[in-house]
Amino acid sequence: MNVNSWLKQASKITTRLDAEIFMMTVLGKEDRSDLVLCAEQDLVEDELKMLDMMVELRLRRVPVAYIIGKKEFYGRDFKVNRDVLIPRPETENIIGLVKEMNVEGKTIVDVGTGSGCIAITLALETDAAEIIGIDKSLKALRVAQDNADELRAKVKFIASDLLDDYHGVADIVVANLPYVDRKWEWTSPEIKYEPEMALFAEEDGLALIYRLIDGCEAEYLILEADPSQHEKIVNYAKKYKLVKRENYILLFQK
Ligand SMILES: C[S@@+](CC[C@H](N)C(=O)[O-])C[C@H]1O[C@@H](n2cnc3c(N)ncnc32)[C@H](O)[C@@H]1O
Repeated sequence: MNVNSWLKQASKITTRLDAEIFMMTVLGKEDRSDLVLCAEQDLVEDELKMLDMMVELRLRRVPVAYIIGKKEFYGRDFKVNRDVLIPRPETENIIGLVKEMNVEGKTIVDVGTGSGCIAITLALETDAAEIIGIDKSLKALRVAQDNADELRAKVKFIASDLLDDYHGVADIVVANLPYVDRKWEWTSPEIKYEPEMALFAEEDGLALIYRLIDGCEAEYLILEADPSQHEKIVNYAKKYKLVKRENYILLFQK
């Protein structure tokens, strides 16, 4: 079977986009347009086995990022596995906001760093003096460190329950903490493959965000949460003044 005929067949049971991403992964192609050039290429048995396994996983609703082991965030590929949340596009808004600030000489602490996507991107995109990535999950911190090494980003990763075990400087705290309320009915079936501790929080999804606000003394605090939760967070964060609200993101100043 050649590339084109496999893509045609696979597109009947999953999306054409998924099929093309799997084909690019197996053939080591960078771009979807590269597939046109090798449309007539015959696939060997190992390639076919791998491709069929990927489609099978997809039919079980395993997210594409876990199947191919990576996800793009702010233009760079981050390694992901089931120990970390798959980076979401809305989280890129945090990077945009920080880039608008003057962070020269500042220490930025990313709480709940997961794959390290925020901390590493900030290390590569800003002139902050120091970037710290914190997570309670040691498995997540291993993935974050691998990503930092691969992308040559200078980030110090620390295991801590929120800021409890971090005793260094924190001028700016950014956090995409778990904020999914278990009662929400509209979450996708694919999230069952992501770590529970990366998704869910008590108190309508706000328990960890409230705890972080309580323990945070940074000059700036940038939080991601569902827009439906923003009002409650703003009301809770009495010691902070809301400076900006963007899609999913709240920026507070002391
Ligand atoms: C929603 S994920 C965000 C991952 C990554 N920052 C991103 O934006 O893709 C939340 C992360 O917070 C971590 N986490 C959960 N509870 C925590 C706690 N009490 N202290 C520190 N990290 C925690 C989880 O392990 C997970 O990696």
